[in-house]
Amino acid sequence: MSTFSHITREKVTECLRRVHDPVLKKDIITLGLVREISVEGAHVFLHMEDASGDATVRGTLKVLIERVLQEAGVTGVEVHFSEKARCGIESGVLGPLSGVKHVIAVSSGKGGVGKSTVAVNLALALRKLGSRVGLMDGDIYGPNIPIMLGIPADRCPEGSEAGKILPIEAHGVKAISIGFFADAGKPVIWRGPMLHKTVQEFLHRVDWGELDFLVVDLPPGTGDVQLSLVQWVRVAGAVVVTTPQEVALADVRRAINMFRQLEVPVLGIVENMTGPVFGRGGGERMAKDFDVRFLGDIPLDAQIRECGDSGIPVVLEQPQGPVSKRFLQIANSVRQVFHKKH
Ligand SMILES: Nc1ncnc2c1ncn2[C@@H]1O[C@H](COP(=O)(O)OP(=O)(O)O)[C@@H](O)[C@H]1O
Ligand SMILES: [Mg+2]
Repeated sequence: MSTFSHITREKVTECLRRVHDPVLKKDIITLGLVREISVEGAHVFLHMEDASGDATVRGTLKVLIERVLQEAGVTGVEVHFSEKARCGIESGVLGPLSGVKHVIAVSSGKGGVGKSTVAVNLALALRKLGSRVGLMDGDIYGPNIPIMLGIPADRCPEGSEAGKILPIEAHGVKAISIGFFADAGKPVIWRGPMLHKTVQEFLHRVDWGELDFLVVDLPPGTGDVQLSLVQWVRVAGAVVVTTPQEVALADVRRAINMFRQLEVPVLGIVENMTGPVFGRGGGERMAKDFDVRFLGDIPLDAQIRECGDSGIPVVLEQPQGPVSKRFLQIANSVRQVFHKKH
């Protein structure tokens, strides 16, 4: 066996750092998906936590693992997956937020499509319809919820007697953002683990009180924060925002696939910036393609941007306008999904 003595558990661990989970986009060691490694001569046995419960993902992981280990001289690989179909990290803490009925993630494949605009106006529209609403700014790098809600840069959340952070209330909605804690204008540089912790703190250390909906404005894409959110709380549904162009299709597909792999129901697609510049209809076609609901379209309208900059979102600034009506319809559809269930 001495010829194989170079194959050690440490060596196997190093090799496995090159295997990235296709959904979670990180290496399987960092994700904590590898529970046990045993080596017998040139044979390796692995016990894995299944991150998705998805046969395709398992198959992909197996192939990737076999490849890196064979390159290192391993002749036989046996991969065993545990039956638990959830994220490997901190899986014990996944659960509902006490007091919060439904966590709704607003997401997009890429930035600049109006995700924050939709999140803010959706939150306010839900409030108008009578729901108790919170808004969490999940964009750790570019928080813009404070400006959109007109909350002055020097306002800092207070602590409660129980040692919790009290959200800042604006227009009847309870909001929290990293922007409340960082100096205005300074870029916030957070390391991965810190970022993970911020989301955790926002969810569990903030005193949200009793809420019907906690709307979370996620950063674009399928990265750390998205992952972190679904690890720490049960997300009731995701709203995916897109612009009308076909080029957005691949991004939307990625976002929807991520939520599906993570077992978060996709509530539907909102098409934003509809009109003569970007066209229309892409969102509805995407919804058909992906077999999800089309929640509605929001026109490209300079006033939407002006309202966003002024701190009085369009739903409040022009309550009777056509854009407000669209947002109220979207909010109504979201509410209906959950009313049917109760
Ligand atoms: N329907 C719209 N019409 C006009 N401007 C819009 C519209 N939606 C968003 N915007 C503007 O586009 C910019 C990007 O929107 P934002 O919501 O910050 O996008 P994201 O959060 O996806 O990066 C902002 O200046 C916003 O005011
Ligand atoms: Mg944004």
